[in-house]
Amino acid sequence: MNLDKQIKRHVIGRRHHFFAVAAPAMEALAAREVNALSDSVDDTAVETGGVLFSGRLEDLYRANLHLRTAGRILLRLSDFKATNFRQLEKKTAATAWVRYLPAGAVPACKAAAHQSRLYHSQAVAQAVQQAIRAYWQALEIPARDDRGQTLYVRLDQDAVRLSLDSSGANLYRRGFKTHIAAAPLRETLAAAVLQLAGYDPARPLLDPMCGSGTFALEAALMAKQIPPGYRREFAFMQWPSFRPARWQHLKNTAAKQIRPLERPLIHASDIDPEACRRLAGCVRANNLCDAIAVSRADFFALAPPPGSAGLIVLNPPYGRRLPPEQPPETFYGHIAAKLARDFKGWQVAWIVPRADLLRGPLGLKPLHLTHGGLSLTLLIGSV
Ligand SMILES: C[S@@+](CC[C@H](N)C(=O)[O-])C[C@H]1O[C@@H](n2cnc3c(N)ncnc32)[C@H](O)[C@@H]1O
Repeated sequence: MNLDKQIKRHVIGRRHHFFAVAAPAMEALAAREVNALSDSVDDTAVETGGVLFSGRLEDLYRANLHLRTAGRILLRLSDFKATNFRQLEKKTAATAWVRYLPAGAVPACKAAAHQSRLYHSQAVAQAVQQAIRAYWQALEIPARDDRGQTLYVRLDQDAVRLSLDSSGANLYRRGFKTHIAAAPLRETLAAAVLQLAGYDPARPLLDPMCGSGTFALEAALMAKQIPPGYRREFAFMQWPSFRPARWQHLKNTAAKQIRPLERPLIHASDIDPEACRRLAGCVRANNLCDAIAVSRADFFALAPPPGSAGLIVLNPPYGRRLPPEQPPETFYGHIAAKLARDFKGWQVAWIVPRADLLRGPLGLKPLHLTHGGLSLTLLIGSV
């Protein structure tokens, strides 16, 4: 069978298992998003570190385009037992890589081993790459390292699982931000916080220590129904199964849902004029002026906008970035006092580096999250 037919039958024409990687405590949110992707998504199961689901190749495209809380989407390729390197290489070479990878591509390999005879993860990664190199040589196709593709190899009690990353750069890289900042949040975490806090685009959102504006930009994408992956490229675009016309069709369908807003209900502000200037430039460049208003303001002098109460999201500075001479307890205590005084009736989502930092009267509920390997606490509740 020629390659095109093989790809149609075995890759495009059949269902697959996918895994949407999500940070701890964000898996259930990602699962909710996965279930909303399409009718052909099935078998959704929350696991530690992500969400397993089944679907067609197009659902993988949809997941990359639409999921706001997942970091990457993996395509599960094969499962087998291996207790020694010979078995590992032989069974790796038994996968029909020609259907999945660009011709000759030897992907980067990320291996993790638990309670297995093959315990040296670097050696496992090298053996898998060697097997793929040998696979191409057997087909007389020149092999080359392809850093745009990554294969995840997981060994658990001698069971090997090979999964191909479809995303490429982590999905928190939306491609909307035109500027960088000192301590930005990941967009995936900002999206999770907004979802956990029950963000309602019809009500005002305040991001009064906005920095690079991750919360505000993420909320704007939600309010305008812009898919988070609308502007970026993905690793699957290099796969031999990729059909640009299908992808364009999915994007066009999504574009029809994008809506203009009457006036901005997202208020982003910061004490740092440079941060505000950069964010305002990014908002203009992305045509998000109908969603976000940026202004320079000191949070402690800020009054809530007129009208109904909404959501206030806070990611204050910590560590070296705290105001000089102020222990964190004092600074965080001032924020709590300001919220209690001026934001009665508002919903609050507040990221604090340590749960014990705030023992105040606000009565917000703590939730433990991780962010790029660091643990932090999210306080949620209404004032
Ligand atoms: C941790 S950063 C926020 C990062 C932001 N969430 C992002 O994704 O880029 C904290 C921000 O609080 C701002 N800030 C500190 N004190 C402030 C104050 N009194 N009023 C307003 N902003 C303040 C800092 O200028 C800094 O940009």
